[in-house]
Amino acid sequence: MAKSEKMFRCSECGAKYHKWLGKCEDCGQWNCIIEEIQTDSFSAAGKSAMEFRALSLFQEKIDRKLSDIGEFDRVLGGGAVPGSVILIGGDPGIGKSTLLLQVSAALSQDYSCVYISGEESAEQICMRAERLEAGNSGVKLACETDVGVIIRSLGNDVDFLVVDSIQTLRSSFVESIPGTVSQVRACAYELINFAKTTGSTVFLVGHVTKDGAIAGPKVLEHMVDTVLYFEGERGNSYRILRSVKNRYGPCDELGIFEMQQRGLVSVQNPSVLFLTQRDEDVPGSVVFSGIEGSRPLLVEAQALVSKSYFTSPRRTVVGWDLNRLFTILAVLESKCRISFSDRDVYLNIAGGLKISEPACDLAAALSLLSARSGKAISRETCAFGEIGLTGEIRSVARCQERVKEAEKLGFRNIILPHSNRFHRGAFPSVNFIEVKTLMEVLEAVGTGCP
Ligand code: TYD
Ligand code: MG
Repeated sequence: MAKSEKMFRCSECGAKYHKWLGKCEDCGQWNCIIEEIQTDSFSAAGKSAMEFRALSLFQEKIDRKLSDIGEFDRVLGGGAVPGSVILIGGDPGIGKSTLLLQVSAALSQDYSCVYISGEESAEQICMRAERLEAGNSGVKLACETDVGVIIRSLGNDVDFLVVDSIQTLRSSFVESIPGTVSQVRACAYELINFAKTTGSTVFLVGHVTKDGAIAGPKVLEHMVDTVLYFEGERGNSYRILRSVKNRYGPCDELGIFEMQQRGLVSVQNPSVLFLTQRDEDVPGSVVFSGIEGSRPLLVEAQALVSKSYFTSPRRTVVGWDLNRLFTILAVLESKCRISFSDRDVYLNIAGGLKISEPACDLAAALSLLSARSGKAISRETCAFGEIGLTGEIRSVARCQERVKEAEKLGFRNIILPHSNRFHRGAFPSVNFIEVKTLMEVLEAVGTGCP
């Protein structure tokens, strides 16, 4: 091994130091500086000079490879790109290994696929494959953690390589233990290099920290081409695959799966899924017509407002942003004179989905008002619109698609921003309630408080 020198690195942000510190000066975290041994082996392998090429020499069309698992291909932007590296993060037990084993099995019908596990034994994986009915597929399996050995064993004709997980790998160039910042980075570097030189597509499984970010250095997410998160709620069989970065496709695209006895199954009509079975009108429930990634999706906002016995009343959200809830409550109080100061407020997006769109504001406000007054909003009504700090209802993007999805699922009344322009004539069966301010919304639906 080449001459090495002592280095210290922050395991949270990757900042480098020459001496140990109790607190990282870059990110401010305590007890996160660890020692690593740097070597100059990486740079020693370099070429003597580089070659230039013209931009026009690039191939016109990327030849994407489809797994035929519809939701997976959709999240990648229409199939996997050769030579790309895709990082998949998610909580333990959410189904990352299951998903990638199914994807490998599906891809192995047309392509050569290698599945490397550093976490489970070959027997465990074979048992799972049996359960997923993937036992007879052409996937080549190995249990190995040395990245050098993995790359040397692969050759040039591997189309897909799955590595489960990047935190279990170690590179002999770096002397720290697997899972540390320097190891994760060195192993990712070698695998990315492998993907770029051979044209293989590499899937890396990444563990997440308790805050939900992919463990290891943030630079890992910068290094790879695509970052996907696999999410879902415990006790709920639905799983959501979300792209947060994609150099070869749209980001914020969603793929929706259901975990069944025989593995993950693509969900064909997600809007139906996120609406609970609603046989009667109930106070506090309002449907929001949202856009997630490239497609519209209807979800239900549910609110509960109850008398508070705390000095500072409770505010709890699931699937939405707590700060957004504070803002909406403040606007309702100052613009509509409806106070929640002596009430506990709970707001929930049904079905385990996390909504980040501001267009959900109006549905959230309506569900709060309905829960507070005890008056239900018709289950044939859905809403979308952003609420501004002055109480105005602001227009949102892709209105026509939202309306179309709502109409398709049988909604007859749509509450939407007055300023949104779209072709109404295309929806003769829908009653549009256009609103400019939150006060107008109150008048329109009559959920004002006594
Ligand atoms: P796994 O893929 O091991 O999760 P991860 O790699 O993200 O840690 O998923 C394990 C969970 O999935 C486990 O709780 C059992 C469940 N599961 C099913 O419900 N059906 C199946 O067919 C399989 C293979 C797993
Ligand atoms: Mg796993």
